[in-house]
Amino acid sequence: MEKLCLRFKDISVSEKMLYSLFLFTIGIGYLFALTHMYYTHQMRDGKPGMSVDDVVIAYYGSQDQTRLGSAIKGGPMESNLKSSADRDTILRWLTTDKTPNDFKTTVAPILNRDCVICHSPQINPSLPDLTHYEGVMEVASSKAAPLPGLVKVSHIHLFGIAFILLFVGRIFIYCEMSTSLKRIIIVIPFISMLIDTLSWFITRGNPSFAYVVIASGALMGISMGAQILISLYQMWFDQGKMVFLVSQQIILDKYRHRAIDLTKILTGRCYAYFCQYAPIVWREIKIGSAYLTKKTLDSMKSFTR
Ligand code: HEC
Repeated sequence: MEKLCLRFKDISVSEKMLYSLFLFTIGIGYLFALTHMYYTHQMRDGKPGMSVDDVVIAYYGSQDQTRLGSAIKGGPMESNLKSSADRDTILRWLTTDKTPNDFKTTVAPILNRDCVICHSPQINPSLPDLTHYEGVMEVASSKAAPLPGLVKVSHIHLFGIAFILLFVGRIFIYCEMSTSLKRIIIVIPFISMLIDTLSWFITRGNPSFAYVVIASGALMGISMGAQILISLYQMWFDQGKMVFLVSQQIILDKYRHRAIDLTKILTGRCYAYFCQYAPIVWREIKIGSAYLTKKTLDSMKSFTR
């Protein structure tokens, strides 16, 4: 015997209201999540707007986004350097392998002259120590996303989103559609979320994976959005008609007729007022505009004179 599964037409209106509000809230929450992502990542490459570079820098890092690089390139420490040629020397060193030998011959003399007055452990233990190679390397390493931070975000993300997808998917199962299509739409957001999270870690070592991060993230958003929209549509408007039980339909029809009657009365009144006052308003406008035209013409005459 075939097992019967519940569909939206079988569930009560209060259940539908609950589900709708839940889906609606999740949808709004997702829009806020996108906005948050935009604000935290868009300026990473120094240009407004989200781009692949922003994602690469977020996970893989970038040579000129080191703390040292950004401090002296338009940052607060730039003014401490005696010349911009020295700044370029340090920036160039940042793009190389950053060997201790190069450091000693090219960078250390500049730092010793301009920076260690403040950046030495005796004077300011809380500032980066720029008196020796290891200290400088701490602010000169390219900033791949720190592993502990990524692990933290991943576990919060996976736990949180798994619950969201469970509930959104559970509601979506009430939809009426081809079973195989439904199965695919249920699976996609989970798979893409897992790929997305995994590719954060891979992007730390391989910047090309930023594309996978973006594609899988987008796929998750699109498939979850589809679940939400299809569910909301089928819940309330199937084949262009609201779906209710017969008894609910009778009550709703009563309210609908009352609403129509009320609108008729109101529009009737409005029309009557319109007919009464429109000629008066029209006359005032005509008088007013004639007066204004005359004034403007007068003032133009006084100009030409
Ligand atoms: C007059 C004292 C002073 C001098 C000179 C100075 N710094 Fe700083 N530096 C600070 C202070 C204070 C901070 C911490 C406050 C801040 O980040 O603005 C800091 C912070 C930094 C940071 C860390 C920024 C971050 O991302 O946390 C770097 C890198 C840096 N300085 C590099 C340099 C370099 C390179 C020079 C030499 C060209 C230099 N500083 C010269 C006082 C100084």
